[in-house]
Amino acid sequence: MALLLAIESSCDETAVAIVRGSVGGATEVLASEISSQIALHREHGGVVPELASRNHSLRLRGLVEFALTEAGVSIGEIDAFAATNGPGLASSLLIGSTAAKGMACATGKPFLGINHLEGHLLSPFLNQTSVPPHVALIVSGGHTLLLDVEGPGRYQKIGSTRDDAAGEAYDKVGKMLGLPYPGGPEIEKVAREGNSEAYDFPRSMLHEPHLDFSFSGLKTAVLYTLQREAGNISIPDIAASFQQAVIDILVQKAMRAAKLTGRGEVALSGGVSLNKALRAALQHACEQNGLALSVATPDFCADNAAMIAFAALLRFLAGETSPLDNDIHPNLPLV
Ligand code: KG4
Ligand code: ZN
Repeated sequence: MALLLAIESSCDETAVAIVRGSVGGATEVLASEISSQIALHREHGGVVPELASRNHSLRLRGLVEFALTEAGVSIGEIDAFAATNGPGLASSLLIGSTAAKGMACATGKPFLGINHLEGHLLSPFLNQTSVPPHVALIVSGGHTLLLDVEGPGRYQKIGSTRDDAAGEAYDKVGKMLGLPYPGGPEIEKVAREGNSEAYDFPRSMLHEPHLDFSFSGLKTAVLYTLQREAGNISIPDIAASFQQAVIDILVQKAMRAAKLTGRGEVALSGGVSLNKALRAALQHACEQNGLALSVATPDFCADNAAMIAFAALLRFLAGETSPLDNDIHPNLPLV
């Protein structure tokens, strides 16, 4: 049994989690605390890095103490401390990573620097006893990735976005539609009242044989439609039609990835995986193609520290640790 404490501070959520697990056993999440900064950044229409890092440092100590209390453990009982070391905002990553290293130093326990994307990738398996071979679709604000996963730590990138990430497209279109930041959940809400066939937005690269994505043409098509039909526009119809285009692209590329790799399972993760229409469409497509689907529970879809703690636990149990001079990397690739 190992007890891990992890910090996630790559963007605008300050998060601390404590997990307990062993080789081959299910991982228990003893605490998963998140202090969201969305309200703080909303008035600026997006994340302001300096405000984010300052707030991470203000919130972190209290969150660590709260997580320890919630988990019913003392800091001395923690076997290793982990933090996201990239990708993300440099000044935000530094706060979490330095705090985790400080605790590791003070207690004489090891430190692990964890890739944020590995956290997302593994999050659908947090409550399971193993990570099966599968195709991973990670859809977040900064990334849209397809990976062929053999098991923990064995990943091969098979597709990624050539421009905007899916969540980024949601956020930019949300802004165009005058919706609050972040646009993703707002568009999903508004889209429920709209007709997804009202506008025939482009599905870029859908019929090309590779597994890469492009969302900037779709975003521009929404912009031109708004300019062309100013005054005569249905926001719900635009939102629903935009969302349908994103879902069609993601689902069809995921199905193609499963076919090309021969994997029998697909796993969906990242903030955009909170989208119920996407989850339902992917579930339907997987059923039609005889594929299993794993999706993170809603608590672990958007940025959280439990997924970082879980990724760290698997590495720690495999005998891996990071040196204390492990640096943060704003553009850290997963593979
Ligand atoms: O994984 P995440 O919390 O942070 C990053 O690592 O980027 O993802 C945040 C993204 C944002 O772009 C947000 O708009 C999007 O996830 N998002 C959604 C929904 N909830 C969050 N997109 C579509 N539908 C949602 N319900
Ligand atoms: Zn994320």
